[in-house]
Amino acid sequence: MKVYDIIAKKRDCKVLPKEEIDFMVQGYTRGTIPDYQMSAFLMAVFIRGMNSRETSDLTVSMLHSGEIVDLSGIKGFKVDKHSTGGVGDTTTLVLAPLVASCGVPLAKMSGRGLGHTGGTLDKLESFPGFKVEIPKKKFMENVNKYGIAVVGQTADIAPADKKIYALRDVTATVNSIPLIAASIMSKKLAAGSDGIVLDVKTGIGAFMQKLPDSVRLAKAMIEIGKMNGKKMNAVISDMDQPLGDAVGNMLEVREAILTLMGEKKGNLLEICLTLGSLMLAQAGRCRKTSEGRVLLLSQIKNGKALLKMKEFIKAQGGETKAIDNPDRLLCAKTVSAVKSKKDGFITRCDSLKVGKASFILGAGRETKDDVIDLAAGVLLEHRIGDRVKKGEVLARIYTNRTKPLKEAEALVLEAFEFGAKKKVSKLIHKIL
Ligand code: URA
Ligand code: CA
Repeated sequence: MKVYDIIAKKRDCKVLPKEEIDFMVQGYTRGTIPDYQMSAFLMAVFIRGMNSRETSDLTVSMLHSGEIVDLSGIKGFKVDKHSTGGVGDTTTLVLAPLVASCGVPLAKMSGRGLGHTGGTLDKLESFPGFKVEIPKKKFMENVNKYGIAVVGQTADIAPADKKIYALRDVTATVNSIPLIAASIMSKKLAAGSDGIVLDVKTGIGAFMQKLPDSVRLAKAMIEIGKMNGKKMNAVISDMDQPLGDAVGNMLEVREAILTLMGEKKGNLLEICLTLGSLMLAQAGRCRKTSEGRVLLLSQIKNGKALLKMKEFIKAQGGETKAIDNPDRLLCAKTVSAVKSKKDGFITRCDSLKVGKASFILGAGRETKDDVIDLAAGVLLEHRIGDRVKKGEVLARIYTNRTKPLKEAEALVLEAFEFGAKKKVSKLIHKIL
């Protein structure tokens, strides 16, 4: 097998056999194939695409470049979820305890991630003492005992993906459906759960901005999962405005707690009920998702979901005072109100701009060594469809840095657009 010939074959629209795909992935991961040849190969895949068999072979090859977690020591049907990344997306913090409180185990690996705000792990560190790295034995014990554990993804999971993603990032080959699908699914398959529910975002601030592309991406991932023996579902959800009202780590944790307390309704709760009922159905905990939904809501009402969150945070060493009093998380030195300069109905609340504002206030990181300010971020007071008057507060900004305040305020103001007619926004576009 010659690398040159494999690149040429894909360039000429041919279908690659499993052996050739594996040769490229393993060779690149080991360092025997140089960046320039892998770059050409990735660009050929970006432009020519891959069929579902090739995409599955690419995924499996990346999966086998590292460790595959064995969850067979955990009783029951294990479920996992993945979100393709949104602004103000605290889903895991609500969904994991909510589903676990129904007796369906979650053994989850999460990331820190780069971008507007931190990832799930950063958010969890809002609880002082919370450990995101616990020994494997303890991880398994916690899942068996409490039905839930969330840890950092180790370097042993799909190292091929890590190396290939870094190359895609600098060669304009990120936004390719087979490459994204293989990247995400190699890590999800390595994490070892029996069922996976995907939350694929669409709109501004998503990998795929158009609905048909998001659907194609979701279908590609479902197919890979099914070919590898997993139960699969996907939800296509909207990212034309931030998911929750909070964008920023502690602010998002506060919103998650309020949601589990039953004090906060809205899109975050809605998506958790949609994803959660699919997870319960996969695990056989309910026959229909409508039943699952009722069960999930009852766990919020009877306080068991919140109790599960407390148990989970405590089990991983975290202090739980904020769960009893979530306003403790509103602890930035400076809070500033952004007021509307117009009257009218909100027709747009650009997730990217709100995310960027949150980022410059200190909520996110650009490189993996940047330090996050967990208290920083933006809290929206209004969303698409709301009617506001000039001078009314649109959002509040939380920060410990005063320098970026003006720029952040301008960005938040820019994110909002107004019209004379009420606009209805849709959260769930499709369930697959
Ligand atoms: N998330 C990933 O993990 N990989 C991609 O390629 C895109 C999003
Ligand atoms: Ca997020």
